Amino acid sequence: MCGIIGFTGARDCAELLIRGLEQLEYRGYDSAGIAVAGADGFAVCKAVGRIANLREKLGAALPAGHTGIGHTRWATHGRPSEENCHPHLDEKGRVAVVHNGIIENYLALKARLEEAGVRFSSETDTEVVAQLLGYYYTGDMKQTLLKVLPMLEGSFALGVLDANAPDALYCARRHSPLLVGLGRGEQYIASDAAALIEHTREMITLEDGDIGVLTAAGAAIYGPDGAPRARAPMHVSWDAGAARKNGYPHFMLKEICEQPQALRDTLAHYVDLERLEIRREQMPFDRQQALALKELTIAACGTAYHAGMMGRALLENIAGVRARAEIASEYRYGPVILPGGGPDSAVFLAVSQSGETADTLAALRRAKGLGMRAIAFSNVIGASIAREADTVMYTLAGPEIAVASTKAYLTQVLLFEILALDLAHLRGRITGEALKQRLAQLAALPGQAQAVLNRKEMVLNFAKRNRACRDVFFIGRLTDYTTSLEAALKLKEVSYLHSEAYAAGELKHGTIALIDEETLVAAIATQPEILQKTYANMQEVKARGAYLLLIGTPGANLPEDCEVWPVEGVHPTLAPLLATIYAQLLAYYTALMHGCDIDKPRNLAKSVTVE
Ligand code: G6P
Repeated sequence: MCGIIGFTGARDCAELLIRGLEQLEYRGYDSAGIAVAGADGFAVCKAVGRIANLREKLGAALPAGHTGIGHTRWATHGRPSEENCHPHLDEKGRVAVVHNGIIENYLALKARLEEAGVRFSSETDTEVVAQLLGYYYTGDMKQTLLKVLPMLEGSFALGVLDANAPDALYCARRHSPLLVGLGRGEQYIASDAAALIEHTREMITLEDGDIGVLTAAGAAIYGPDGAPRARAPMHVSWDAGAARKNGYPHFMLKEICEQPQALRDTLAHYVDLERLEIRREQMPFDRQQALALKELTIAACGTAYHAGMMGRALLENIAGVRARAEIASEYRYGPVILPGGGPDSAVFLAVSQSGETADTLAALRRAKGLGMRAIAFSNVIGASIAREADTVMYTLAGPEIAVASTKAYLTQVLLFEILALDLAHLRGRITGEALKQRLAQLAALPGQAQAVLNRKEMVLNFAKRNRACRDVFFIGRLTDYTTSLEAALKLKEVSYLHSEAYAAGELKHGTIALIDEETLVAAIATQPEILQKTYANMQEVKARGAYLLLIGTPGANLPEDCEVWPVEGVHPTLAPLLATIYAQLLAYYTALMHGCDIDKPRNLAKSVTVE
């Protein structure tokens, strides 16, 4: 997502900050800015678009100053603009802040400060941090941070400058990563090692609750109680390429492993997890619109289409809303029969990670042309699909760089889950109490996703053992069938192995003829009411020689000699997400065994802007 760089030492730092931001460009961003502490306060420069624009704005005479912070912003709260771009200052210009993460209670904090007369100049959650630090400033920034940070809910990595202490750089972390780089007579902060590696390889990874006070002389780390903490530096031996991936060998694995955070960030944007309430201001339907809704048509491409299929099932099962999932390239030319009724009866929903896919955009334009209200799920703020939709719901997965979509998919399905629960409540299908229970289950999802990721060695070992496998069939029923489609797509797109998905009950009507001893059949079975049915289909293929993998819930009558990757103790509507993580890991490790170009598979593009 966003990128942070910070410096304090004995030399002018503006050029170093910009260089650092250039090293963070790969993370994706839409605006960038720096603040340098000088004798008369801060010199601040911000620009929308590329870092080249920031350079151009700064011109040849860079601001002088030995301490500074810089930021590349990937918009989450508020559009990409100079006002919303970091660093943010308090109204007196005494404090400058750069921030990664999300301050979940920023609206409440902002209202409190506005009541006290504080004037805000941006739409961001970050500005609240700068204003709080300015408002509660004690004359000592470390003390002020100790006072203000407990007021913040959510996640943050912060770089902070204090105009009264132009030789010190402050930082803090909760849930969002931040590194402190240790140099000779100069210290740094950065959100990942890529920005630091040309200066130092000695780095401290801040832990949750840590506050850092950096000066030319060294870095002191304190806990939330204000007492010093010993944090041993690590020596980073990665080359620059590996540093951009934060030590992961591929972006795909990095993005798979980022899913707990992506789920957490997206969830926090739409749900007040403390009160277990949906944030109504983020939702596209009010009660009247929810009651008037007769049919929701979802259109998307590729992995986003599979999210749409999952969405269809969730909307029908949870909210009782009739829904259809359409491949966007088909929808744009096929017949459309509207259900009749008022303007709120037929609603269209486009799902897109990039927000730029040509077929999805064309489908949205067609739906609007037919008079439908258009909603969009987009992972990129201000993308074409987001701009043209009447209402946007953003997934907060952060930039996805690997061509094969992983974390965007999980957050798209999560959005459908939240949307379906909200509609179910508005339409009187579930009580307020039941809604709270379901939201509490959602809150547990990031931790459950992490538990699956902790078993990745198991998937790696399986991929090693099965590297000679020729064909893979994924079978499942209902939402497990949708997960099978996504699992098969993931495997074929990155490993080039032949893989197909079948509705488990359909295989015997023809395709079972292909099953032999060299076929792996991976059954996805997470839905309690149809578990035994899928087990029975597994027996059928086992009898034809296939070897078996179960991704799901083990139980009585499961065929013997079957590898099991467990999905247990999770609500059935959420279980497919955990099964998907296993499937992503299987695709990744299989591709690794085959030596494929995992992040850029042959013939594929990340953003398909042609028909
Ligand atoms: C391309 C990508 C897929 C992606 C699809 C839809 O084909 O390779 O990974 O699922 O486009 O992209 P979107 O950005 O609209 O989600």
